[in-house]
Amino acid sequence: MLQWIFKGIDDMEYVQFGKTGATVSRLGFGGAALGIKNYIRPYDPAAEESQESAHKALETALELGITFFDTSPVYGDGASETIFGDVLGGLEQGRIFLATKCVPTDYDGVMRSVEGSLKRLRRDYVDLLQIHGGTYTDERVQKILAPQGMMDAMKKLQADGVVRFTGFTSEDNNRAVFNLLECGRFDTVQLCYNFIFQHPYESTRPFGSLLAAERRGLGIAAMRAATSGTFQRWMKMIRPDDNFDYGSALIQFVFSNPLVDVVLAGMRSPGRVRQNAAVASDLAGRIDLRALHRRTAG
Ligand SMILES: NC(=O)c1ccc[n+]([C@@H]2O[C@H](COP(=O)([O-])OP(=O)(O)OC[C@H]3O[C@@H](n4cnc5c(N)ncnc54)[C@H](OP(=O)(O)O)[C@@H]3O)[C@@H](O)[C@H]2O)c1
Repeated sequence: MLQWIFKGIDDMEYVQFGKTGATVSRLGFGGAALGIKNYIRPYDPAAEESQESAHKALETALELGITFFDTSPVYGDGASETIFGDVLGGLEQGRIFLATKCVPTDYDGVMRSVEGSLKRLRRDYVDLLQIHGGTYTDERVQKILAPQGMMDAMKKLQADGVVRFTGFTSEDNNRAVFNLLECGRFDTVQLCYNFIFQHPYESTRPFGSLLAAERRGLGIAAMRAATSGTFQRWMKMIRPDDNFDYGSALIQFVFSNPLVDVVLAGMRSPGRVRQNAAVASDLAGRIDLRALHRRTAG
């Protein structure tokens, strides 16, 4: 459950990130858009202007008090981690909470993946290592949790101090995901939750992966807060002349769910960072999710 710790720089909100006990900014910097070529719109992470804008976006995030940063080796084949490393690599220990991910399912593959991540991030540890999840099947979960499998590698890295906490990310809400949530071996989860993907939590129904994660005390981050552009594309299709700022409204929707500790937004420019920091500090703009879902008047 969301616990406001204090309001800091420019009214940035800080929360306790579940059972990690770490205090992090509620607005999290999502690194996918910085690294993936043509993600959401035409974009080249290798272009000089992209790099400059990305560096400034990260610097602005630090200035505005964002402390949660999320990336993955697969975002542009290491490009996002490299950009993170350029700006965040030299920061003093404990200044930020840095999360990355790993994809392989075997022990040695995890070790190699983290070694590469640390080089690109220019760090000797990360705060959070997450299994980069798209889809989970029962078989995949069995493999992850099997002796000498992915989980054991992550726990070894944790024991060695290379990784402070472990988690997983998921697009799915199937039985396999609930098994991972219930297995008791993770500190955090990152779930796809936004205005158009409300299946992890709908306030009128007492179930869903967000609720299960909350009951387990996991730190909860929501990915794709601005729907990775899907909602905006739909609006452009049906109302091409409509210039309403749907992005901020979508992000405010996710902030309005008190089960979500960290709201991850992809940001490529300092302007976007300022825009989302303003949403993060706009407590009066939060909506009542129960009222939103009410189907009867009075
Ligand atoms: N499986 C996984 O582990 C997984 C999957 C997806 C995402 N994630 C994590 O979640 C983060 C967020 O997801 P995402 O980047 O896919 O999607 P997102 O945050 O929903 O969308 C990112 C795009 O939305 C635009 N945007 C952001 N804030 C906006 C605002 N206030 N108004 C208008 N547009 C805005 C930006 O566009 P411009 O480029 O035009 O500024 C940005 O490129 C990722 O970066 C990643 O860290 C994890």
